[in-house]
Amino acid sequence: MAIQEEHFKKVISHAKEYGFIFPSSEIYDGLSAVYDYAQNGVELKNNIRNYWWKSMVQMHDNIVGIDAAILMHPTTWKASGHVDAFNDPLIDNKDSKKRYRADVLIEDYVAKIEDKIDKEIAKAAKRFGDAFNEKEFISTNQRVVEYIEKKEAILTRMAKSLEKEDLADVKSLIEELEIACPISGSRNWTDVKQFNLMFGTKLGASAESAMDLYLRPETAQGIFVNFLNVQKSGRMKIPFGIAQTGKAFRNEIVARQFIFRMREFEQMEMQFFVRPGEQKKWYESWKETRLKWHLSLGLGNDYYRFHDHEKLAHYADAAADIEFKFPFGFKELEGIHSRTDFDLSSHEKFSGRKLQYFDPELNESYVPYVVETSIGLDRMFLAMFSSALMDETLEDGSVRTVLKLPSVLAPIKAAVLPLVKKDGLPEIAKEIVEDLKWDFNVDYDEKDAIGRRYRRQDAIGTPFCITVDHDTLEDKAVTIRFRDSMEQKRIPIAALRELINEEVSVRKWLKKIQS
Ligand code: GAP
Repeated sequence: MAIQEEHFKKVISHAKEYGFIFPSSEIYDGLSAVYDYAQNGVELKNNIRNYWWKSMVQMHDNIVGIDAAILMHPTTWKASGHVDAFNDPLIDNKDSKKRYRADVLIEDYVAKIEDKIDKEIAKAAKRFGDAFNEKEFISTNQRVVEYIEKKEAILTRMAKSLEKEDLADVKSLIEELEIACPISGSRNWTDVKQFNLMFGTKLGASAESAMDLYLRPETAQGIFVNFLNVQKSGRMKIPFGIAQTGKAFRNEIVARQFIFRMREFEQMEMQFFVRPGEQKKWYESWKETRLKWHLSLGLGNDYYRFHDHEKLAHYADAAADIEFKFPFGFKELEGIHSRTDFDLSSHEKFSGRKLQYFDPELNESYVPYVVETSIGLDRMFLAMFSSALMDETLEDGSVRTVLKLPSVLAPIKAAVLPLVKKDGLPEIAKEIVEDLKWDFNVDYDEKDAIGRRYRRQDAIGTPFCITVDHDTLEDKAVTIRFRDSMEQKRIPIAALRELINEEVSVRKWLKKIQS
């Protein structure tokens, strides 16, 4: 099994074993692509949300937050285009009766070509050693050039067919590439059909009077419909932003890769309203700001890359993803979209209400343009969790499993551990917990040998372990152990709060954005 695949399996099992993520309603065999956050998971998730909110809302004096309802008037989704255009192309295999996204089948085929390219590059790098020039190799090696041409031809044809809604050609492409069902191995496919991703529900008691509603597929529309309410009540001046975090629902056909693609998930979105014509400038500026936010968490440039969209959604004049190096490769973590005036204009049309801004500097009214930043909270969780989980071989040859989360996001900031369960040590340890818990999420643990307790805390990412021993009775000091270096230091109990705060405070981490 590939190392990455093995790592991903470990991520999923570790998340369950250490109380981060459970399959939803597991006693009934679970519900596909729906997950519950457990005791440690919810803390990590809350910390990520808080880190986003702090930087996007509280650190910007021209951005405010809201919390709109999940259920919205159904016309919202006509206006936004979701009723007509929020579709995925579906195909069924007649033998296995399994349903697939046609575009994903083709993309998986392309991924195999990419693997072959990577293998050729790795082989050549080994052969040529230091003299290897990757760029030159890619552009001149006959086999690699052919692979790249093939890959590009497939992707271009698929993009064109999807854009023209030529689903028959998408099916032809699958047939020409001889793509087989991964389960049955057969190429006995149905036609490709469009499938709307919104979950429907009903409002009202009786069948006759019930109104058809949708569970929101994105949080953004709750912001658009409140644009004028917020602008007027907050006396906001353009440019300004409205942010919110909350649940979104999509009936994903191919729900896989754990919490990467879920049917119920959470988004953190911000709509930034700007003067028409200034959207390009703000789009570039938000791309930069959002990348800095990610980088502030200390993983380094290698984990991130931009992917500019060639095929734009119906509402966008520019769009890019920030992709993250997940265990299964670089994939979308966040989207930055220049959404033009599409949404507000469309809501004006469908509601009959003016959604315009009077610009006192220009002395005119207009429908603002919008630049959106949109990140999946669960995806951010997976990014942080999967990159933090590692097995480390220690000097004595033993292996420790450690979750090296950025300490600002760690579920528990410090664990207080009495060396033994007697001689007054538990009492002092509990006093320390009582004091620290006002500022941090702290844990008390007196069970098992101290080494095993350290390992348990390493596995859930606790940055500090504080050990109370017999000397503490005399010197009012404790041993503090640092998760990453495993270094141990003796410090006065009175100095604990400041030391922990210096390391885990949002202030310390977010300040990196400015540097
Ligand atoms: N308002 C724009 C919007 O919703 P999107 O690219 O469809 O754009 C934005 O979604 C982000 O939401 C994605 O970058 C991803 O992080 C997250 N996301 C989307 N679908 C998801 C799913 N099924 N499961 C988990 N996260 C998802």
